[in-house]
Amino acid sequence: MPSTFPETVLRTDSLVLRSFSRADVEDTQRAASDELTQTWLPLPHPYTLDDATAWCSRTAHALRESGDCIHFALADPATDRLLGTIGLRRTSWRARTTEVGYWVAPWARGRGVAAEAARVVGRWALCTQGFERVELRAATGNIASRRSAERAGFQEEGVLRNAGVTHGGRVDLVVFSLTPADLTPAHRLSPGHASRRRDSRLAGVEAGGSAGREVESARCGDGPGRAAGRGTGGR
Ligand SMILES: CC(C)(COP(=O)(O)OP(=O)(O)OC[C@H]1O[C@@H](n2cnc3c(N)ncnc32)[C@H](O)[C@@H]1OP(=O)(O)O)[C@@H](O)C(=O)NCCC(=O)NCCS
Repeated sequence: MPSTFPETVLRTDSLVLRSFSRADVEDTQRAASDELTQTWLPLPHPYTLDDATAWCSRTAHALRESGDCIHFALADPATDRLLGTIGLRRTSWRARTTEVGYWVAPWARGRGVAAEAARVVGRWALCTQGFERVELRAATGNIASRRSAERAGFQEEGVLRNAGVTHGGRVDLVVFSLTPADLTPAHRLSPGHASRRRDSRLAGVEAGGSAGREVESARCGDGPGRAAGRGTGGR
């Protein structure tokens, strides 16, 4: 079993999920400085152009190589402009568990980008990367994030008291998860039969680049904080 996420591009009609590049620096700085983003995520404050440059050109890539994370830039398919980010982190390759986190840029909010991205990444983690549980935690007061998790098909499990940290203080976190059992039976394949079949749970997700090969080899057993510095991930 691999212990790092492969560099991957995923596509839907409305989103491209790709790695960060230097072209994303200014939009990352603007989005990570946004008031709502800063309300719910413990990002550096102020979030500077140097922070964004480090994230886009080094940190996001180094985190993938470390095995703990993958951080996708969410881009507009027509213009490639940055719309947000979604990442997997706190990954246990032994337990096959990982956790999704995201933000959407102010100019892209209000059209379900986070739910769409979480739906795609959750299924990619379960179907293609062999994970058994994808977790998502949102502050109890973060209604847009909770709603996005539900829309993406995650199941609410309960509340972790005093578990989150924001600039405003500690918060309770609602825990959601997506497991293979949440995906429809029609799409389940036994692990032994999955290796050469296209994963129908990724229907509507057309993978590009290396991801094309990954989708072909999908296993279907029934998935920017400050990381080592200043970045854009977090909760
Ligand atoms: C959470 C976030 C990513 C959602 O962005 P988005 O994909 O554009 O979400 P939308 O604006 O389309 O809203 C999603 C849902 O929440 C609802 N919603 C949004 N803001 C709301 C509010 N203030 N009160 C109640 N409902 C709200 C929408 O009506 C929509 O509901 P629907 O699916 O029933 O139509 C975005 O608000 C954000 O970046 N927030 C700051 C960072 C953050 O909180 N990250 C998540 C940490 S867990």
